Amino acid sequence: SGDKLWSGRFNEPVTELVKRYTASVDFDKRLAEFDIQGSLAHASMLNKVGILSAEDLDAIRQGMADILADIRADNFEWSLDLEDVHMNIERRLTEKVGDAGKRLHTGRSRNDQVATDIRLWLRHTIDLHLKEVAELQTSLLELASAHTDTVMPGFTHLQVAQPVTFGHHLLAYFEMLQRDAERLADCRKRVNRLPLGSAALAGTSYPIDRHYVAEQLGFEAVTENSLDSVSDRDFAIEYTAAASLIMTHLSRLSEELILWMSPRYGFIDLADRFCTGSSIMPQKKNPDVPELVRGKTGRVNGHLMGLLTLMKGQPLAYNKDNQEDKEPLFDTADTLSMTLTIYADMMRGVKVKPEAMRNAVLQGFATATDLADYLVKKGLPFRDAHEAVALAVRHAEQQSCDIADLSLETLQSFSSLVAADVFEVLTPEGSLASRNHIGGTAPVQVKAAIERAKTRILAK
Ligand code: ARG
Repeated sequence: SGDKLWSGRFNEPVTELVKRYTASVDFDKRLAEFDIQGSLAHASMLNKVGILSAEDLDAIRQGMADILADIRADNFEWSLDLEDVHMNIERRLTEKVGDAGKRLHTGRSRNDQVATDIRLWLRHTIDLHLKEVAELQTSLLELASAHTDTVMPGFTHLQVAQPVTFGHHLLAYFEMLQRDAERLADCRKRVNRLPLGSAALAGTSYPIDRHYVAEQLGFEAVTENSLDSVSDRDFAIEYTAAASLIMTHLSRLSEELILWMSPRYGFIDLADRFCTGSSIMPQKKNPDVPELVRGKTGRVNGHLMGLLTLMKGQPLAYNKDNQEDKEPLFDTADTLSMTLTIYADMMRGVKVKPEAMRNAVLQGFATATDLADYLVKKGLPFRDAHEAVALAVRHAEQQSCDIADLSLETLQSFSSLVAADVFEVLTPEGSLASRNHIGGTAPVQVKAAIERAKTRILAK
């Protein structure tokens, strides 16, 4: 018999190209720690139910400890001939401890083994992400706290709409990230089920104790159906969908940072450490990091589509197609982790330019709605108020000024209901203060929202 663990059945070896095509060790070696964790729980269960002797269990534990140390020290030689992480580790174990190593795979298949490894890895990864999201949310709250009263234009259709505070604007992203964290936490519940014990597809004839293994590995429950357990990857798709949404939210924020940093807006500046210059234009400072976040969103969205497509044609139960789940998952996790971490730091380095924000509010007739509401409060039906203000805006536009710059007499020519108190509602600050209800942009509401937000962050 040759190198392969099943080679007795074969008359010829695979070609070099097929070997490289089918091997996954180059990327799935990343699962090594989780593979060993799973194997140790499996071995201890085999011993508990009387299938594996105490001596063999001991040998397996010793051997695995050595292997883990070697892997951590980058002292483990991975072999393409052994195809994947599972067979590399098992073969090394057998080299070290002999027959005990050969007994480890009793009642188990690589199909339930790999499903277990990915779930262990993903559970760990989600827990990291929850902390990373919390850190970014914290940085948003810090910035929002400093700008509960900073007025900026709120936009619809990218046209100036109504005044909002910069703090309120940032809290919108806090909410998106809050739902993102909830999605990750919810996905984690379905990740956290043990598939081991399903064996290749139908279960096993040994008297295994799956609950014991689940407990050893910190799984909340065991999966219910062996066929489903070895073939299902919907938990991975769910995770990637959650990751895509996080990236999508950060892509939107990135688009805003890029716009705001453009001299046309001039609302903010990013710290130099997130920007690069131009090799030709000496004056340039480009917002590379937000641009790359926007770009990398496409990459993560692509992984989501890749995984959905990977699953759609697979009959039950396990198919080798599933080996293709790992690279998209790993790349999603790495991209998301880096993005979240860099983003928290970047938000802490945002320099806000309140004068530019306020000037933009004054230029866009942002308080036109306030004037209409003022007239309504004096008894005019809203539709009539809307029309009166529209005429006032047209007039101001012709004069190249804001409606707040028109004289009392001029304003009264559009409605006799206008009185001297009108100028209070035409200031950006008056407009902000009037939106004083939960979810509104009034500074007192934003301050209260920040206090509530601090207590809502999931991973602390
Ligand atoms: N490397 C494989 C994967 O990632 C492990 C399972 C292989 N099982 C099999 N019967 N070929 O899915």
